[in-house]
Amino acid sequence: MKQPNYTELFIPFLNQETIPRPRYRALFLYLQQAIIAGQLPANSRLPATRELAQLLQLSRNTVKQVYEMLHAEGYIETRQGDGSYVSPQLDGRCLQAEGSTAPRKKGTVRLSRKSRQLEQLRSLYHHNREELLLPAMPALEEFPWTQWQRSVVQAGRQMKFYRSSSLLGDAGLREQIAAYLESSRGIRCHPDQVMICSGSQQGLQLAFSMLLDPGDEVLVEDPGFPGIDGAISNAEGVKVSVTIDQQGFRTDLLHNHPQARLAFITPSRNYPMGYTLSLERRLQLLQWADDRECCIIEDDYDSEFRFDGPPISALQGLEGEHKVIYSGTFSRVLHPAIRLAYLVIPESLVEPFCRMRSIQDGGLSALPQMALADFMARGQFSSHLRRMRKLYRRRRDYLLQQIDLKFPGILAWEPSDGGMHCVFRLSELYDDQKIARIANQQGLGLRPLSYYFDQQQPINGLVIGFAGFSEQQIDQGLERLRTILESGQKKG
Ligand SMILES: Cc1ncc(COP(=O)(O)O)c(C=O)c1O
Repeated sequence: MKQPNYTELFIPFLNQETIPRPRYRALFLYLQQAIIAGQLPANSRLPATRELAQLLQLSRNTVKQVYEMLHAEGYIETRQGDGSYVSPQLDGRCLQAEGSTAPRKKGTVRLSRKSRQLEQLRSLYHHNREELLLPAMPALEEFPWTQWQRSVVQAGRQMKFYRSSSLLGDAGLREQIAAYLESSRGIRCHPDQVMICSGSQQGLQLAFSMLLDPGDEVLVEDPGFPGIDGAISNAEGVKVSVTIDQQGFRTDLLHNHPQARLAFITPSRNYPMGYTLSLERRLQLLQWADDRECCIIEDDYDSEFRFDGPPISALQGLEGEHKVIYSGTFSRVLHPAIRLAYLVIPESLVEPFCRMRSIQDGGLSALPQMALADFMARGQFSSHLRRMRKLYRRRRDYLLQQIDLKFPGILAWEPSDGGMHCVFRLSELYDDQKIARIANQQGLGLRPLSYYFDQQQPINGLVIGFAGFSEQQIDQGLERLRTILESGQKKG
């Protein structure tokens, strides 16, 4: 058999500026790659260890160790008194797909239909937490870190005695959440109806997979939360957009969709417009769910931050406990990286949800849940919320004042009673997608309003976050926006 030219084979290895450490690992990977790629074919003889050590300026022991590793993993064999050879089994055929004569292609794994469908969806924005004016960004510098650390340490101590194994999540945290929801959101539930999830996105995904069969229709708000598209598609449901107006979801359009199985809505504050669903429409929606045996998912993502009075009561509390799945998250009230959220599930659905959860992920790590339960039990959560409500109101008012001053006739506020971002209509002289694209390249996290629209005629506007930014940062962000708008970015 023709022997490879070893000097040539090792030129790339020798040409490396420095050989990565440990050197034996670097040489092992190099030889392994050469065998897989066929540069060292089956039955070819490897150089003697002394020879190779000399060529590569390595110790003989290093080379010996590498040969032993290759041997242990079946790449080479030693022939008595005759040195080391690439294993005859590695004759090229085993590196090809079974029954195929074509050479093996790398990186061609076939994806499932579901994952191919996900590629078709509008792509979601990546949240870069460094960006100014990013919506949904809480004031991280105001987070009570010392108190949080105390709760984490306490949870670490308690872990020693932890025995609970409920698929719903930590019992202490569920008790805290149920008590909080009852007092602040008028929600009626037992802690055993609360399921802790890793972000509301997981909860929504779980709810859809429990409630939808392939082809089932889900009513969603238009404009609405784009993160929902993937969850519906993954459950093989069909998204049906329903227009909203200043009273929220247009319940007078419900009769157009007799096949719908489910409605997903943000009644406290439509995302992103900020409109609140009127009481009359809340009652109509609940009636619809009763009549049609449908379910409603209430996404209550940031209702805590209502500035002109206490938070509006949840839909679930309006005798909706049998047909409303309520979804809440700590991403906005505490920290986007906390990845803790919850669902409140109607009693009759708790068992099936737990069954699904057992195959989905078996529940979450106990430690962060215990830390959050302790943080809530000490009153830190509610005092942080009270402080943030006041701070965000001041920041919102500052943003509105500056927008009025700096962008008269260009940006007009779309009123809303709270939240963490404001929506502004943008003068028709500008294209919101183009402005947002340039702004994003310049470190601003604002979003084009038209992005949130599906079937309805989009409104040209900007969604600007204020909660996570000091007055100085708001000034900086708006200055950058002014430069962009003044630099001849008009349409046409
Ligand atoms: C309306 C709405 N629902 C759900 C979510 C997802 O929240 P989580 O971070 O808990 O997955 C967001 C995130 O910003 C949101 O804006």
